[in-house]
Amino acid sequence: MLLNYDDLLAGLADSPLAHWETPLSVQLHERLQQHNNGNLPRFLDALSRLPDLPASQLAGDASAVTLLNPDALDDARQKQLETGLRALMPWRKGPFDFFGLTIDSEWRCDLKWARVAPHLADLHGRTVLDVGCGNGYYGWRMLGAGARQVIGIDPSWLSVVQHFAVNRYARHARHHVLPLTLESLTPELEAFDTVFSMGVLYHRRSPLDHLEELRQALRPGGELVLETLVVEGEQGLALVPPGRYARMNNVWFLPSVPTLIQWCEKMGFEDVRCVDQSATTVQEQRVTNWKRGQSLADYLDPDNPARTVEGHPAPVRATLLARRPEGGRLQRYHL
Ligand SMILES: C[S@@+](CC[C@H](N)C(=O)[O-])C[C@H]1O[C@@H](n2cnc3c(N)ncnc32)[C@H](O)[C@@H]1O
Repeated sequence: MLLNYDDLLAGLADSPLAHWETPLSVQLHERLQQHNNGNLPRFLDALSRLPDLPASQLAGDASAVTLLNPDALDDARQKQLETGLRALMPWRKGPFDFFGLTIDSEWRCDLKWARVAPHLADLHGRTVLDVGCGNGYYGWRMLGAGARQVIGIDPSWLSVVQHFAVNRYARHARHHVLPLTLESLTPELEAFDTVFSMGVLYHRRSPLDHLEELRQALRPGGELVLETLVVEGEQGLALVPPGRYARMNNVWFLPSVPTLIQWCEKMGFEDVRCVDQSATTVQEQRVTNWKRGQSLADYLDPDNPARTVEGHPAPVRATLLARRPEGGRLQRYHL
């Protein structure tokens, strides 16, 4: 079984997530048995063809998540490695360095991490949930910053398999990427010290439910890290693009920062603050040798890069931090 979560499940037993072990085991079993992704067999085939190598050290504290191998790869294995990793294209998130082979991904995720990391509550010893984690790039950076354990969830099978490709060599027992959505997660886990949701909220048709689900995953006193697309404006304003946004057909709400803060407070978070707001640049998201086709430059108006091709404001992202209150009941309005 190439996609195996036995070590994760076994480790939950003695942890604050012990109550998750049984429902997660059932859910993973079903998801693996009943996937309906026609590409998964191809991804698994590519994974199985990667060369066997001894366990490697992984450096998660550099811009490129780097697998280090003291023994140089011979030419045949190097070729086998590149062929296997190329069969897992497109690599949207990264960069990674596999024993000297650089995966220059579409996104320079190191730039986002550099914006977010300085503001976080110290990750040392923390158990982290990364919602919409992609291939787990940020999870490696979180471990590099001291996190004890990172569990990422993402419904994209390609992302999950890319993570297994990295961990085939790192063999890290406390970093997993699960093929799950946040909505399908066992409710009220109330156990994670930090929960990240980066680049997911605008994909949700019901952003307040997304915030509620994030809150339920956190332990009392835990930290939410919320990063999403925003627009300029007053409290109460949110852009709901009538059609596509930057060629994406699954974008629902782009709130102003004051609106986003209000949503978080309404959903029971406290100490909500915006720590960063940055325009996405064509240096951060671009076509590379590992993600061909189109990228941000093609989604912006060539005559006015401050606008998307549809005429909306070009992408700007905000990072908010917030805390789940320590105790007490939430003030709720039952209408
Ligand atoms: C724009 S990417 C962001 C990836 C990464 N977090 C980042 O900030 O670069 C959005 C990711 O969220 C995942 N996603 C979409 N809907 C989701 C959901 N309901 N629950 C969890 N992940 C979701 C997608 O598969 C995708 O990998």
